[in-house]
Amino acid sequence: MCGIVGYIGEKKSTDVLLDGLSKLEYRGYDSAGVAVLSGDKMEIRKKKGRLKVLGDDLIKMPIEGGMGIGHTRWATHGAPSDENAHPHATASGDIAVVHNGIIENYMKLKDYLGTKGYTFVSQTDTEVIAHLIDHYYEGSLYEAVQEAMKRLEGSYALAVISKKDPDELIAVRKDSPLIIGLGEGENFIASDIPAILAYTRNVYLLNDDEVARVRKDGVDVFDKYGIPVQHDIFKVDWDVEAAEKGGYQHFMIKEIHEEPKALKDTLSPRITKEGEIDLKNLDISHRKIKNIQKIVIVACGTAYHAGLVAKYAFEEKLRIPVEIDIASEYRYRNPIVGPDDLYIIISQSGETADTMAAMRMAKKEGAQILAITNVVGSTLSREADYVMYTWAGPEIAVASTKAYTTQLLCLYLLMLEFGKVRGAIDELDYAAYITELKAIPAKAAEIITEDSIKQIMKSAHKHCTVEDTYFLGRNLDYAVALEGSLKLKEISYIHSEAFPAGELKHGPIALIEDNTLVITIATQERLFEKTVSNIKEVKARGAYVLAITTEKADLIRDLADEIILVPETMNIFMPILSVIPTQLFAYYCSVERGIDVDKPRNLAKSVTVE
Ligand code: M6R
Repeated sequence: MCGIVGYIGEKKSTDVLLDGLSKLEYRGYDSAGVAVLSGDKMEIRKKKGRLKVLGDDLIKMPIEGGMGIGHTRWATHGAPSDENAHPHATASGDIAVVHNGIIENYMKLKDYLGTKGYTFVSQTDTEVIAHLIDHYYEGSLYEAVQEAMKRLEGSYALAVISKKDPDELIAVRKDSPLIIGLGEGENFIASDIPAILAYTRNVYLLNDDEVARVRKDGVDVFDKYGIPVQHDIFKVDWDVEAAEKGGYQHFMIKEIHEEPKALKDTLSPRITKEGEIDLKNLDISHRKIKNIQKIVIVACGTAYHAGLVAKYAFEEKLRIPVEIDIASEYRYRNPIVGPDDLYIIISQSGETADTMAAMRMAKKEGAQILAITNVVGSTLSREADYVMYTWAGPEIAVASTKAYTTQLLCLYLLMLEFGKVRGAIDELDYAAYITELKAIPAKAAEIITEDSIKQIMKSAHKHCTVEDTYFLGRNLDYAVALEGSLKLKEISYIHSEAFPAGELKHGPIALIEDNTLVITIATQERLFEKTVSNIKEVKARGAYVLAITTEKADLIRDLADEIILVPETMNIFMPILSVIPTQLFAYYCSVERGIDVDKPRNLAKSVTVE
């Protein structure tokens, strides 16, 4: 969601800005722009549409200059258009700003600035920031930005440049991610690491309410009171290739192929030679684990679906009550937080605005926060009491895949560790679970073989023109049905819903008619018979049933019109495997329909505004 890149150095800044913005395309955007200090002029170029439109324009009419800011905008206030695209500047063109986030009091500020003679040319909230900084400008851009911040309410990451301060870029972070890349004789600003990884691995991860003065030869960071802040250099330990397609047509399919490795990377370092789980890095005491009275899981989207799997699994194996909530709902209810409740907050990016707000709310009420995130140094990882990383590597495609399966793996590890410490899982079972978990990466690889993929491609080819799809499942299979359905709708735009199979007769069955596609997830042995009844019910109404199931489910295999088999594992771990065919099915439907798989319409990878 919106991307910022800033550069100061000897290179042609538009090259660095465009290159960096192209690495942030995955975040989702609908327009792009740059502002460059060129000699004593501020040149601004911005275009609705893909980055290529801006790039082509810059080829036709290049802008010289070694200091600039760039932006990809995902529209919130005002439609996608050239005018609403960032950067926004003052009428004199002295100051230019790019912004991620939302300024909640922008109407009030706009009225105020109107009384001071400022006029506005866009519908954005961002334009007020440029004018506000100008309003406070008395010879120092840095000081004007600090003053303006006192009036801004909401979330914002900013990059600001001024004609009058040609030697520095100002970067600000408040509730929206921003990093500083440290080079030799050049420095960078970016919303995310991939934007600058081609130039440097040394990074400062800004904290909220910090302001950085970024010059060619150095960076100084201050808090909101102007007091200098020392930052440790964060060394990025993954390669630029990890954030490239590496020969695949899309990031999504590359990331599905990476699942076996991601699962292995997440699991192996946490299993000792003796076959024990080692969560030392988590640093949560046995006393704390024993005292947990209730677990509350909060997340959004796919991460929420991972949490739902954990609710079923934890309650069954640990006998601890588990509440689960969607973060945007949690933050507006009045939750009761007990002193011995453990909050598990799940977020691939660690930056999702609703999830962060829910986490902070729970923390304020005294909750202990255990974060599961993929991004080292993310807001979530920095604010939580305990952090467990999914070592999935960068996930670029909007549709989350390897993050989901590694989130599940982390949750299962927690289940086993908590079960052992609390005496809910005995030693024999514990050992058997671990043996089986170790086999999961190889089993995941079996689903991504050429033959299995061919079968799913064929199935996607056959079904990609349907208008509606319904996913059914019970218990853990229902959680996977929800995730499969989300995947399909977000990247193929096929209308899709998921229902608990037992709920069919209470309404959804009215939707079934001749040839309605019903995708049934059936992996939980004790529920096979129930699922068989549901398949019969929908087939009796003309549905075409595609079952994702296992060898053991003979009756289901006989009844379904089409089956996709997944390897056997313990029932409790089935979601890690059964979800993969749903990811592949969604992917190939999207490809068949000619959709831009990695950048589906209206969606952003990291939803950093409410
Ligand atoms: O970064 P997060 O895990 O917090 O993101 C949560 C959701 O926005 C995300 O899972 C979203 O639902 C994906 N597009 C799903 O593929």
